[in-house]
Amino acid sequence: MAKEIQTIGVLTSGGDAPGMNAALRAVVRAGLHYGKKMIGIYNGYKGLLEKDMKELTYRDVSGIINRGGTVLKTARCKEFLTSEGIQKAAENAKEAGIDALVVLGGDGSFRGALALSQYGFPVIGIPCTIDNDISCSDYTIGYDTALNTACDAIDKIRDSCSSHDRCSVVEVMGRNAGYLAINVAVAAGAEVCLIPEKKFDLSDIMDKIKETTAKGKTHFIVVVAEGVGGVDFIAKNVEKQTGIEARPSTLGYIQRGGCPTVKDRVVASKMGLKAIDLLLEGVANRVVVYKDTKIVDFDITEALSMKKDFDNNLVELAEILTY
Ligand code: F6P
Repeated sequence: MAKEIQTIGVLTSGGDAPGMNAALRAVVRAGLHYGKKMIGIYNGYKGLLEKDMKELTYRDVSGIINRGGTVLKTARCKEFLTSEGIQKAAENAKEAGIDALVVLGGDGSFRGALALSQYGFPVIGIPCTIDNDISCSDYTIGYDTALNTACDAIDKIRDSCSSHDRCSVVEVMGRNAGYLAINVAVAAGAEVCLIPEKKFDLSDIMDKIKETTAKGKTHFIVVVAEGVGGVDFIAKNVEKQTGIEARPSTLGYIQRGGCPTVKDRVVASKMGLKAIDLLLEGVANRVVVYKDTKIVDFDITEALSMKKDFDNNLVELAEILTY
């Protein structure tokens, strides 16, 4: 029979995302509610290797639901990726009395959790990333806040670009995925959106700008996903080929910060409770996911091998609405 879980470790790993603190709060308070000892591990898996951990109380997670970033700090830890690193992390977790682990992060963080599970730790992953690129889940904590931050930034850029009759070429984060970029483009009414999921020809974009200029358009927003890149090059080409003054902007890390939206806080709270419920029901090695508006869970290995659909209708919608 599996050992009864008394002590649960929790860590945040990979890129920070707004709502991670709300998820941490929910994990800790749900665990305490069921009488469990909760241990916070600092700096992701690095904290397990360096024994940087602390018992967490209700008060340690108070006043954080509204804060961006992660109070546990985060890191991408190369040493943990080696078999020696994983073994050392498992030994340190055992020494700290940890019986099970909740990992807040992305696919890379879940792979780490899976590796640790091989040393007998039940693990649960909670998807947190502004990129929304975790295949098994329709939604990831941090995505809604990042969408709103990026949209707000582009609205502001448009104020300036419309005043000067310019074209602003704006890079939006997302690593190799275009979910953030295409949704922001639709929401901000961008005239063009370039994403890794859809092939494009720069000459078609120049033609669209020239054609719509002839119809009276005076300024343009071109959203470029990070996975496409090249905002300087694209801006220079717009200027050269259309005669419209163009400026590149990279939104960068402002998209990762800020006060989480209501959606991120509520989803994070539900997922945190679900993670603890699963562990205490004896269900191990799962990822908590948001599927068809419900909070459910998948086996980690299965979750890591899934493919995510891309909403091509959104690409079409963006094109139809911006002539
Ligand atoms: O995964 C979140 C993200 O912000 C991506 O959009 C971006 O590609 C990456 O992290 C940047 O990572 P780092 O924090 O290592 O610069």
